[in-house]
Amino acid sequence: MKIKQKSENIKWHEHKVSSKDREKLLGQKGVVLWFTGLSGSGKSTIANELAYKLHKMGKLAYVLDGDNIRYGLNKNLGFSPEDRDENIRRICEVSKLFADAGIITCTAFISPYKKMRNFCREIVGPRKFFEIYCKAALQTCEKRDPKGLYKKARGGKVKEFTGISAPYEEPENPEIIIDIDKYDIKESVEIILNKLRKEKII
Ligand code: ADX
Repeated sequence: MKIKQKSENIKWHEHKVSSKDREKLLGQKGVVLWFTGLSGSGKSTIANELAYKLHKMGKLAYVLDGDNIRYGLNKNLGFSPEDRDENIRRICEVSKLFADAGIITCTAFISPYKKMRNFCREIVGPRKFFEIYCKAALQTCEKRDPKGLYKKARGGKVKEFTGISAPYEEPENPEIIIDIDKYDIKESVEIILNKLRKEKII
C-alpha cells in the first residue's frame, strides 16, 4: 500500500536527542509488538499482562488497543474494509512514534488484512516489528464472547463481524504464534518475554 503525500515540502528530520539516546536511557529497545487475532482471542489481555510484567521489571511499555483507540483517535471509523485499513494505518504510524520514543509498544487490534500488517512491518521497520499471532479457534472465541458481539453477529445485529461475516486472513510468517487453545495467559507472556530477551530488546 502506498499513501500519496498530499502536502508538499514535508521532510522527516531527526531531533537532537536520538532514538538510540532514549533507548540507552531506558535500558531497552523501542519496538512494536503487533498482536493480531480474532476478537476474543486474548490479544488485549495478553498485551496488558505483558506490559504489567515489563513494568514490574523496570521496563517502559504501553498498550494501544482497539477499544481505546476507537474511543478517541479513530472514533470516526467503523468496520468496513476501508475503515479498518485506515484504523490500522493510523495505529501503525502512532506505534512507530512510540517505538521511536524507546517504548515497548504493544498493539492489540484484530488487523484482519495481511496487506495492512505487511504495510505496518514496512513502516515500522523489520527489526522493530514483531507480529504476534494469537491463534484461537473461532469456536473458542465465540464461546468466550466477552462482549456478547458474536451472539449479536450471528443474529445479524452486528454487521461485518470478523470471523462471522467479515474475513480474517491468518499471518503466514509471524515472529511469534501463541496457541491460545494450548497456553494460558501467564505462559503466553513468558513466551513473548523469552523472545524479547533472545532478541536483546530487554
Ligand atoms: S480492526 O479490524 O479494525 O483491527 P479493532 O481491533 O480496531 O478492529 O476493533 C475490534 C473490536 O471492536 C472487537 O474486539 C470488538 O470488540 C469491536 N467490534 C465492534 N464491531 C465489530 C465488527 N463488526 N467486527 C469486529 N470487531 C468489532
